Amino acid sequence: MADFTSGFWDWYIIVPTLLGIVWLVVLVTRFSRGSKTAPGEPVETMGHIWDGDLEEYNNPLPRWWLNLFYITLVFAVVYLALYPGLGSFKGLLGWTEVSQYQEEMALAEETYGPIFARFQNQPLSQVAQDGDALQMGERLFVTYCATCHGSDARGARGFPNLRDSEWLYGADAEAIEHSIAQGRNGVMPAWGAALGEAGVVQMAEYVLSLSGREHDRGQAASAKQKYVTMCAACHGEDGAGNTALGAPALNNRVWLYGGSLTAIRDSIRVGRNGVMPAHQEFLGDAKVHLLSAYVLSLQDR
Ligand code: HEC
Ligand code: HEC
Repeated sequence: MADFTSGFWDWYIIVPTLLGIVWLVVLVTRFSRGSKTAPGEPVETMGHIWDGDLEEYNNPLPRWWLNLFYITLVFAVVYLALYPGLGSFKGLLGWTEVSQYQEEMALAEETYGPIFARFQNQPLSQVAQDGDALQMGERLFVTYCATCHGSDARGARGFPNLRDSEWLYGADAEAIEHSIAQGRNGVMPAWGAALGEAGVVQMAEYVLSLSGREHDRGQAASAKQKYVTMCAACHGEDGAGNTALGAPALNNRVWLYGGSLTAIRDSIRVGRNGVMPAHQEFLGDAKVHLLSAYVLSLQDR
């Protein structure tokens, strides 16, 4: 507490808190005096009269109520002695949220660690056949992945569907595990400035043509050459995509960001930047392995 400001703020909390407790003790003991009048005796009043005949009695507070009050006061003092609450005083127990979290995590690791680890050394294709493993994988998925990929793993706009046969980064077990463990970052540059608005409109028609959808032939033809120079390096000349870069196939009907003409133009004009967070450090290898097996198992259903 050498630092003046932190010292000040400590006392700013400590003094009113303790004074508050003392004040409550004084208040209660003072107002709990007075004895109950026996039946027949004249009752003591506070001397206030309302509406001509409505008087306020001066009866003591009920015992049980007073006792509850004293208990809460004692609780407050004991609590403040044991736990942090008075400025930067850490409490006699030395309890912190962080240490509690770490203890709970260590306990969970001890309990579940061996169960998860059992599968860690099995190849994914084998784990993906194991009912117990898949059940655990499903629970993990709902906890850690469903916010983005949906509880049914069918994804949403910008978040890939993990049940279909279209993969940004490849369908094999290694690619899936790599996505989950290391994360992914799909980078689609913005082409609005390079193409101009008319160029974006033409390019979108060309993208439609790649997937065999109805399109304006003239506009698509005028974008073909630009596609070869600007886009083919990532999406492939025929639009088959590139799993090494996470560049989606454009020659099918599956769209990460939506297949409407507006969505396709937006993708081209402003670019896209999908981020799949890395989970290895956060979840550990064993859970990543179970999750990978679960994702892999979704393909066969
Ligand atoms: C914050 C949102 C978010 C969370 C949480 C998240 N993902 Fe993802 N995931 C994404 C995005 C976005 C992509 C696509 C990345 C890209 O566009 O390149 C992706 C891609 C993937 C891929 C690759 C898909 C492909 O087509 O190749 C897999 C597999 C995957 N996620 C599995 C998981 C699993 C399993 C979890 C839970 C541990 C998870 N994700 C949690 C957002 C998320
Ligand atoms: C540097 C590689 C790269 C280049 C060059 C590139 N793209 Fe992409 N493109 C990507 C990636 C990666 C994604 C996926 C972004 C994500 O995962 O968030 C993407 C996404 C898209 C999408 C959205 C697809 C969907 O399923 O919703 C369209 C459309 C698209 N690109 C068209 C083009 C066109 C047209 C060009 C040329 C003008 C082009 N791209 C150039 C890498 C590239």
